[in-house]
Amino acid sequence: MSEQSLNAPGQPKRRLFVEIFLGAGVAASLASFLYPVLRYIFPPETAEATSDTVLAGRVGDLKPNTGKIFRFGSRPALLILTPDGQYSAISAVCTHLNCTVQYRSDLRSVWCACHNGMYTPDGRNISGPPPRPLDKYDVFLKGEEIYVRRQGNA
Ligand code: FES
Repeated sequence: MSEQSLNAPGQPKRRLFVEIFLGAGVAASLASFLYPVLRYIFPPETAEATSDTVLAGRVGDLKPNTGKIFRFGSRPALLILTPDGQYSAISAVCTHLNCTVQYRSDLRSVWCACHNGMYTPDGRNISGPPPRPLDKYDVFLKGEEIYVRRQGNA
């Protein structure tokens, strides 16, 4: 490389561009590493503590012998309309290893697919590895809306 080409008038601009480009790449790499670490150390606020009552659905959303998952704070819950027309609401977090359970119309039971755990529609553990019942919630209607509340919070 000749001395003349090293001192070309456009070279400082190119060097500055390369330095900015590489610096931005290093900064982006650091940010992509630090962001998840900071989110782990300082987790975001959840809606868990804000309400003991949630709107789970509307009358007519469910046919008898079906269920649906809804959010209760940050966790899933299960609203069931039993074959005899009664609403039941329970936690959808399996008491074995925290998988999400589902209502099985064919079995008329709540089933955990992870290890074949089985519960009654009101959350009682009846077979498989779950060691205890699912948390049960109160259900009440306000007009056409179905609300679910933690038990003992009238
Ligand atoms: S996690 Fe539900 S049965 Fe194991």
